[in-house]
Amino acid sequence: KEKVTTVKLADMKANKQRISMVTAYDFPTAKVAEAAGVDLILVGDSLGMVVLGHETTLPVTVEDMIHHTKAVKRGAKHTLVVTDMPFLSANVSIADTVRNAGRMIQEAGADAVKLEGGREMLEEIRALIRANIPVMGHLGLTPQAVNKLGGFKLQGRDLDGAKRIYEDALRLQEAGCFAIVLELVPMPLATLITEQLDIPTIGIGAGAGCDGQVLVMHDLLGITNDYMPRFVKKYANMYESMVDAVRSYTQDVRDGSFPGPSHEFGMKEEILAALKK
Ligand code: KIV
Ligand code: NA
Repeated sequence: KEKVTTVKLADMKANKQRISMVTAYDFPTAKVAEAAGVDLILVGDSLGMVVLGHETTLPVTVEDMIHHTKAVKRGAKHTLVVTDMPFLSANVSIADTVRNAGRMIQEAGADAVKLEGGREMLEEIRALIRANIPVMGHLGLTPQAVNKLGGFKLQGRDLDGAKRIYEDALRLQEAGCFAIVLELVPMPLATLITEQLDIPTIGIGAGAGCDGQVLVMHDLLGITNDYMPRFVKKYANMYESMVDAVRSYTQDVRDGSFPGPSHEFGMKEEILAALKK
């Protein structure tokens, strides 16, 4: 399968080809994503919650993102990898934003970065694109703003909120973003935005009208047994299979049925005899 590029995504939209994106945080999940043939891998800062156990994405650092992106790249050499700009890495100054994003590309090997926010981020986005760093936008529920938004909840429900997201989407396209994630917004709003844009929208909790979809790998695989928001579709129940497998192993160890003869290594009789002397 040919590697999808940021440029090809707009053609996919024009050709009404839907885009599949999934998160990956390490070598094995990247291999799974690539083997499954997804178009795009997101090294999301959701890794803070999903694989590091934090309550929010706020504790995630640039170093964390670089560390995980490197592992993902080793597992997915032929898939476009987008890395999230974590909390405060794109909001302090233009220079810091470019430097932090530059590290994602230069040190970690990401193909592009994603950052949260609308009109307030336009200068940063333009500076990144000027530095030849492709940018994916992220509107609607932007989890790094959880304390400002008052929780992980549906955005753009009233006219002012919907208008703001709609206008922000147009401005992000104008600034040069190659795609925009729309998270937790009403389906009709996401559909309207998708119709008005030339660049693809990638939805999560934004309905079927988007050009593509993104889900957290561990959510769709059911690797955790945590609460799942209703926009997640669980394609497997890995948590139960994993607990069952580890429980069986533990039982086998305790009752002596593991390891069996096929898992052991022998030794020449004479060596053992000499050893015992
Ligand atoms: O971090 C993440 O996983 C994301 C997606 C939910 C879009 O930003
Ligand atoms: Na994210």
